[in-house]
Amino acid sequence: MITRIEKINPQNPEKERIQNAADILKEGGLVAFPTETVYGLGADALRPEAAKKIYAAKGRPSDNPLIIHIADFKALFRIVKEIPPQARLLADAFWPGPLTMIFQKSMIVPRETTGGLDTVAVRMPDHPVALALIRESGGYIAAPSANTSGRPSPTLAEHVAADLDGRIPMILDGGAVGIGIESTIVDLSCMTKKADGEWTTDEIPMVLRPGYITREMLAGVVGAVGDDPGLTDANAHPKAPGMKYRHYAPKAEMIIFSGKRENVIRRINAMAAENGQNGEKTGVICTDETKDCYRADFVRTIGSRADEESIARHLYATLREMDALGADRIYSESFSALRIGHAVMNRLLKAAGHHVMEV
Ligand code: TXA
Ligand code: MG
Repeated sequence: MITRIEKINPQNPEKERIQNAADILKEGGLVAFPTETVYGLGADALRPEAAKKIYAAKGRPSDNPLIIHIADFKALFRIVKEIPPQARLLADAFWPGPLTMIFQKSMIVPRETTGGLDTVAVRMPDHPVALALIRESGGYIAAPSANTSGRPSPTLAEHVAADLDGRIPMILDGGAVGIGIESTIVDLSCMTKKADGEWTTDEIPMVLRPGYITREMLAGVVGAVGDDPGLTDANAHPKAPGMKYRHYAPKAEMIIFSGKRENVIRRINAMAAENGQNGEKTGVICTDETKDCYRADFVRTIGSRADEESIARHLYATLREMDALGADRIYSESFSALRIGHAVMNRLLKAAGHHVMEV
């Protein structure tokens, strides 16, 4: 299959390009497109054969459910059983935006889209290209990140092409994404209505995947919000099936170093020197503040500690670059678990298979 890569204006998408892409989706085909978080690989969410093509193109395990992308709140009514009050509040506050909510699904959502589950993940992305494509193609696009399963999520169309060229008919190239890390996932599927029509208050929404929208931001809108125990406890079973895989994984062995800045620098430099003697190449992932302190084969800064959002934006491209450079070992600094740093650390820990060295 030949993959057409179409440049598209990210602010004012050309109508004809959107129409061509929507035609592919309406025929049950796949189109990769930019969102504000990462590039997605889209298919018609309500057609089982279309969703199946996503799993085949990505090499994704079929028990890992997809997120349905919508362009307006009313579209939610057809695909979920009921809308808990918290969902309206969160949608008012954060949609369109990097928040995915999980609901009990309605009958029309095929199990091929939800990985066999009775629940469905839904998000309204904040990107003109994504919104136009959703509207033009019928309102419901199932889209995981547009990477090969197990690779870092794509933040540029070039990353999508590197993974999926020849496997999908079209990539819409809207340039670099804004956020760089996948949406926050919050589970509302445990909210239930009692016989008298009132919603129970015994359950609270749970964060299944941290992202740009933090638990504190969610709690500011709906009161208590929890964290899925599977996020931090290696022995607990994560509720989002995708969080159990060793994801975002570079090919090299990766270690995260935590401790005082001078100790981290000293230890990484010592280990890089030792690797060199063994004929192994070392890549270091650091920040603008420390980039001149390292001596290793490849030293890459992912942003400034003074601007945490820049770190999120460059994380995946840096992991891909380390692979492309042929690093045998990747050593990374660690980041504060506050704000977006929490999501950055979540992805880094997964990339490193939770290998952390305290120094
Ligand atoms: O920012 C994003 O969310 C991007 C862009 C393209 O929108 N999409 C994305 O999709 O990250 P994906 O497929 O790479 O990650 C979806 C995650 C997986 O961990 C999956 O297991 C979880 O969402 N998920 C989807 N449906 C679920 C459900 N019904 N219950 C629990 N987890 C679910
Ligand atoms: Mg993904």
